[in-house]
Amino acid sequence: MTYEAATDRYEQTPTRRVGNSGLVLPEISLGLWHNFGSVDDFDNQRAVLHRAFDLGVFHFDLANNYGPIPGSAEENFGKHLKADLGKFRDELIISTKAGYHMWNGPFGEWGSRKSLTASLNQSLSRMQLDYVDIFYSHRFDPNTPLEETMGALASAVHSGKALYVGVSNYNAEQTERAAAILNDLGVPLTIHQPRYSMFDRTPENGLFTTLEHLSIGAIVFSPLAQGLLTDRYFAGIPEDSRAARAHFLQQNSITEEYLEIAKELNGLAADRGQTLAQLALAWVLRQSAVSSALIGASSVKQLELNLAALNNKHLAPAELKAIEPLAKHGLG
Ligand SMILES: NC(=O)c1ccc[n+]([C@@H]2O[C@H](COP(=O)([O-])OP(=O)(O)OC[C@H]3O[C@@H](n4cnc5c(N)ncnc54)[C@H](OP(=O)(O)O)[C@@H]3O)[C@@H](O)[C@H]2O)c1
Repeated sequence: MTYEAATDRYEQTPTRRVGNSGLVLPEISLGLWHNFGSVDDFDNQRAVLHRAFDLGVFHFDLANNYGPIPGSAEENFGKHLKADLGKFRDELIISTKAGYHMWNGPFGEWGSRKSLTASLNQSLSRMQLDYVDIFYSHRFDPNTPLEETMGALASAVHSGKALYVGVSNYNAEQTERAAAILNDLGVPLTIHQPRYSMFDRTPENGLFTTLEHLSIGAIVFSPLAQGLLTDRYFAGIPEDSRAARAHFLQQNSITEEYLEIAKELNGLAADRGQTLAQLALAWVLRQSAVSSALIGASSVKQLELNLAALNNKHLAPAELKAIEPLAKHGLG
C-alpha cells in the first residue's frame, strides 16, 4: 500500500529551535538504536516510522553501529526511505554518528579523521543517501587531537555530506573546546546529544549551562531510561522487553529500590492524569537547554502514548519538588 503522509502532521507536535541555528526539531524525536535492526520486524518498523512522521516527528536519529547487527538499522532505514519516506527527504532531519566500535582495526572506532570520514561514507551508502542532516562525533577520543576530530566534522560539512555537526557524550569542558575549534574552521557546533533523564542528571552539573552560554542545542537521549521510567517492569519482565533481551538494559536494574521509586513517580504522574513515561518526558523538556527529547519505541502504541506527553508539559513548583527526591542518579 502506498504511504500518504497525514496532511496535518505539522499541527501535531510542537518544535523547538536548536540553539541559535536554523535547525528546528520536534520536541520529541525518534531514535533507531533498538527495534530497527536486522533482528526486528520490518513491518513494525515501517508502521512506527510512518506513524511518527504523521504525528509531526520528522527527526530520526541513527548511528553507524545501530542494529543488531551493527549497521542494519541504517540499512533498514535506507529501505524505508526508498520505499516511501524518501519522497519527504527535504522535510526529514536524519542524523548519524561515528565513534563507537564498528569494524576491526584502529580506524573502526574513536575519532580520527580516517575513522570519521570512512564511517560517514559507509553510513551514506547503507542509507542510500547523498547527505545526512546531522553528523556527530559519538564520543570524545582521548588519544586523537580534538583539532583532528573536529576537522573531520568540518570537512563533512564542507564536502556537502553533512549539513550540521554535533558531539555526543562530551563533557562541558570538551564541548567548549570542540566549539572553539569548529568556530575557527567556520562551522558552528550546532547540537549536543547527552544522556539525560530523571535517573541520570549529569548534564545538570555544568553541561546545560555551557550549552546555553554557547547557544548550542541539546537533544537528550534515553529520557525514559531505556524503559525504566515507564510502567513496563511493574509486573515482572515482559518477554518482549529490552531488559528481557538484556541488550544494554540489564535485568539486574529491576531492583526492589527501583520499583519502589518508579511506582512513587507513577503515582505523581497519575495525579496529573499522565503515565510515568509522559511525566518523564515533560520533566526533561522543562529544561530550557533541551531542544528535543530523543525516545525509542518498540510499538506504535508506545510512540503515540509518549507523544501525548506534549499535551501536558507544565510542571508546577510543588510537582517538581515532589519529584526531586525520587529523581535519583544511578538508577538508570
Ligand atoms: N548518543 C548516544 O550515545 C546514544 C546512546 C543511547 C541512545 N541514543 C539515542 O537515543 C535514542 C533513544 O534511546 P532509548 O531507546 O534508550 O530511549 P528511551 O526512550 O529511554 O527508551 C526506549 C524504550 O523504552 C520502552 N518504552 C518506550 N515507551 C514506552 C511506553 N510508553 N511504555 C512502556 N515502555 C516504553 C521501549 O522498550 P521495550 O523494547 O522494552 O518496549 C523503548 O524501546 C536511541 O534510539 C538513539 O537514537 C544515543
